[in-house]
Amino acid sequence: MLSKVITGSVLTLLSCSLLSAAPYNAQAKKDRAAMIKYMEAKFKNPKTAAKFFPYTPKNELEHNFIWGFPFQEFGLGDAGYVKSVRAQFDNFMMLPPFYNAVDNGEALYHKKFANGNSFATCFPNPAITNLYPKFDDKTNRVVTLSEAVNNCLIKNSESPWKMTGMKMAYLESYLASKTTAAGKKFDIKIQSAAAAKAYRRGKIEFYSQRGYLDLSCATCHVLGAGKRTKADYHSPLLGMIAGFPVYRLKWGHVGTLEKRLVGCNKNQGEVPHKPNSKWMGDLEYFMAYMSNGIKVNAPSVRK
Ligand code: HEC
Repeated sequence: MLSKVITGSVLTLLSCSLLSAAPYNAQAKKDRAAMIKYMEAKFKNPKTAAKFFPYTPKNELEHNFIWGFPFQEFGLGDAGYVKSVRAQFDNFMMLPPFYNAVDNGEALYHKKFANGNSFATCFPNPAITNLYPKFDDKTNRVVTLSEAVNNCLIKNSESPWKMTGMKMAYLESYLASKTTAAGKKFDIKIQSAAAAKAYRRGKIEFYSQRGYLDLSCATCHVLGAGKRTKADYHSPLLGMIAGFPVYRLKWGHVGTLEKRLVGCNKNQGEVPHKPNSKWMGDLEYFMAYMSNGIKVNAPSVRK
């Protein structure tokens, strides 16, 4: 009897320690696998399309959708699955409008700070954009790529840059082009309980309905991926940040992810969040984790 009790409690203890040893990214891993399954099924073939797109005209599904495209092409945003957008995209990529942004970024990367250091001192390997955002356990917050750039400036007694500004977009264009050339895939890590909490906050932000229209990001970019607002098709959450910074025809120049997200807040009928806020960091952390396994393909071009 006694031995049974002891065995029981030892087992309980064991299973508790096993539970607490569950990797911090366990939930995120599950979420990502489910997202891939959903998106791949959604864009697999026109035969099952009616289940996902009951209101899209048949003609549009038959003639303007690319079905069963390779997983990596989720990194192309709406050009991944819309034939007309892909044709436009391919045209632009023949003579990319962002090439001078990459050159400007390269010059900024090598330019000496007043103390003689440069960004090359902070980031000796420029091919790093697939690793951001990162969670920093010391400061207990997410560090986005733009924040990492600013931390480098501050460490070298320089003034930080505007995260939605041109210098930031240029430097990040250079870093992203190097990451793309190296063929690197998003590899966002969740390695502590605090990091798992930040991911969870970002996920809640993505799925919460907000603004006077009462929409969530997921309304348009998960359930609504493959549907459109007027003529604009919604890109799927999977791989959604792989093309940043992007050259937007609407802007006529490259812009950072923060610049785009501030615009999304406004579109959603909300007062935009600050680019360097915890809110923005958590949201980007969630979105980037969902892009894990997808190659950085940036800078890119969007409408
Ligand atoms: C009413 C629908 C709608 C809602 C809600 C919405 N978006 Fe979008 N979003 C769009 C459309 C349309 C575009 C332009 C087409 C595209 O690239 O998806 C876009 C573009 C984007 C892009 C650029 C994608 C790219 O490939 O360039 C990002 C990033 C983005 N949205 C994030 C968000 C986030 C985060 C939220 C919530 C805070 C959000 N969106 C809410 C409709 C929406």
